[in-house]
Amino acid sequence: MAANPSEKKETRFYYPSEEFAQNAAIPSMDAYWALCKEAEEDYEGFWGKLARENVLWHKPFTKVLDETNPPFYKWFEDGKLNVSYNCLDKNLENGNAEKDAIVFEADDGTVTRLTYRELHKRVCKMANGLKSLGIKKGDRVVIYMAMSAEAIIAMQACARIGATHSVVFGGFSAPSLAERIENAGAVAVITADEQVRGGRYLPLKAIVDDALAMIDDNKVKNVIIYQRTGNEINFVKGRDHWKHELTDSQSDVCEPEWVDAEHPLFILYTSGSTGNPKGAQHSSGGYLLWAIMTMRWTFDIKPDDIFWCTADVGWITGHTYNAYGPLAVGGTIVLFEGVPTFPHAGRFWEMIDKHKVTIFYTAPTAIRSLIKASTEDTMVAPENYDLSSLRLLGSVGEPINPEAWLWFYKHIGKERCPIVDTFWQTETGGHVIAPMPGATPLVPGSCTLPLPGLSISVVDETGQELPNGQGGILVINRPWPSMIRTVWGNDERYKTHYWPEELGGRLYQAGDGAIRDPQTGYFTITGRIDDVLNVSGHALGTMEVESVLSAHPMVAEAAVVGKPDDLTGESICAFVILKKELPEGENAKDVAADLRKWVSREISPIARPKEIRFGANLPKTRSGKIMRRLLRVIARGEEITQDISTLENPAILDQLKKSL
Ligand code: PRX
Repeated sequence: MAANPSEKKETRFYYPSEEFAQNAAIPSMDAYWALCKEAEEDYEGFWGKLARENVLWHKPFTKVLDETNPPFYKWFEDGKLNVSYNCLDKNLENGNAEKDAIVFEADDGTVTRLTYRELHKRVCKMANGLKSLGIKKGDRVVIYMAMSAEAIIAMQACARIGATHSVVFGGFSAPSLAERIENAGAVAVITADEQVRGGRYLPLKAIVDDALAMIDDNKVKNVIIYQRTGNEINFVKGRDHWKHELTDSQSDVCEPEWVDAEHPLFILYTSGSTGNPKGAQHSSGGYLLWAIMTMRWTFDIKPDDIFWCTADVGWITGHTYNAYGPLAVGGTIVLFEGVPTFPHAGRFWEMIDKHKVTIFYTAPTAIRSLIKASTEDTMVAPENYDLSSLRLLGSVGEPINPEAWLWFYKHIGKERCPIVDTFWQTETGGHVIAPMPGATPLVPGSCTLPLPGLSISVVDETGQELPNGQGGILVINRPWPSMIRTVWGNDERYKTHYWPEELGGRLYQAGDGAIRDPQTGYFTITGRIDDVLNVSGHALGTMEVESVLSAHPMVAEAAVVGKPDDLTGESICAFVILKKELPEGENAKDVAADLRKWVSREISPIARPKEIRFGANLPKTRSGKIMRRLLRVIARGEEITQDISTLENPAILDQLKKSL
């Protein structure tokens, strides 16, 4: 199990101010418990009411939840809607037409604003452009772009015509992109010529070309390219289209395609502990409902808020809390192309000041790296900026250690702003455990309590609920509207992975360990219980990294484990056995550098092992099983206390203990 980087235990409570509580959507714990009770007493009634009140339906649903074929649950099944209509047209009709929907800040600081009216037009033009290429409802479209209004326009345009999008993070390599395009059976790819990050121009279209060349049965007929930098790219006639040429002459009106509530809005790939990444398939109705409710409840969004979620649209956080949730509630979002440390590590604070951000949502890794930067250079410290516009802070992606929490609370929120530590996953679609900022007393390092309506427990390996204070497996007890519907094209994997028989087949297993506080019942996430690593808030399968390392021509075998890291939460330590002799000294460093480059190229720079250790063999049991637990101990530099009598080759342990 991966460790929570926090060592210290915090027990002091932090309360919202009276002013915050008074204006909040959920203003007290009594109000919170009342919602929980309502859901418990009439589960379908609770969700049905929320769905009717918060989502615009083209055709109302008559049944809330269909549980006849578990775990393939259906929500609002006979209702029809369009998610883009709910995000855009709705805002034109209710007085938000001239309100900024997106405030985009480019890497170089240039700011572009798009009102709801403009965004609507741009989405309609793009949707008509896609239709003109024959792309239609049910088709899959891969979006491989950087953070930009264009990426959100592409996602919304797909939603508008009923095409299912699959956004692939712009940091993924050609083989990873190819795997996803192929698995999704995509008919088109939307990309940009290049992306700009930290003053550097990085290729996107060239990687799409490489990826497409790797696929045998290539269904991609069209590639649409947004011109971001204007640098020269390879252009395949008949297949490739400049976005502006495709869309400029299109009508800015596009009737939405009404789809069933269960129609797949998107597929988003996420790493698993074994095998290839899983395509988490999300619905339209249930997903949208939860994006809206969590914007209202967890983020307490108000009409005047300026909402900044720093997550890339390539991840689920960027989907729910950039592309869909904030727009569906008529919010204004700040969208940032660059990196937090360019041109200096005060960029985030500078942008909060410049755009008068009121709600700021980011990842513990970013917070930790900015703490470090501001300690090293006071010029980039948050104290140099006016952060008084802030009223709420949020954290996501990994456990936030109390030390980082307290710094965030004090230096950024000035002890005024509640922090919502939101626990959720690609598969959950939106927050599942998080404080209600106007109500929940906060404890640093705890994501506190489930969202109203959700029933979440900690159980043992047989599915029995454990008493508070005892660590176990985190499960969700009942289906919820924004849950993953299946693994794209692989129902069996969905069923066995998320609804394991060992737990009785009716509990959703998140893959995380958790413990509840004996007094408060608050949840603390203790880390993954499977072989999924969490590096800077990004889930990565150990098997994925191992198989790429093993595919390097010099490598005979590799094993990968996670290790606690002050900055990234967890980092990757790889144990590598080469086909030839054990490398030494400078040679070992060169080989390690080469292997790191290889992993970057094959998967993504995120997957690059921070540490590589060489040995003549891996520690294995007599039956040939790699003893990963032992490798974890070695990677952490801890004393080996476990029984190693079953180990085939104890002598190699000394080799593996040596760090380069
Ligand atoms: O281990 C948990 C961790 O991130 C995993 C989900 O990763 P992903 O699907 O990439 O989605 C990340 C953004 C929602 C979880 O299984 N995780 C996420 N948020 C938290 C967290 N761990 C502790 N506390 C959190 N707030």
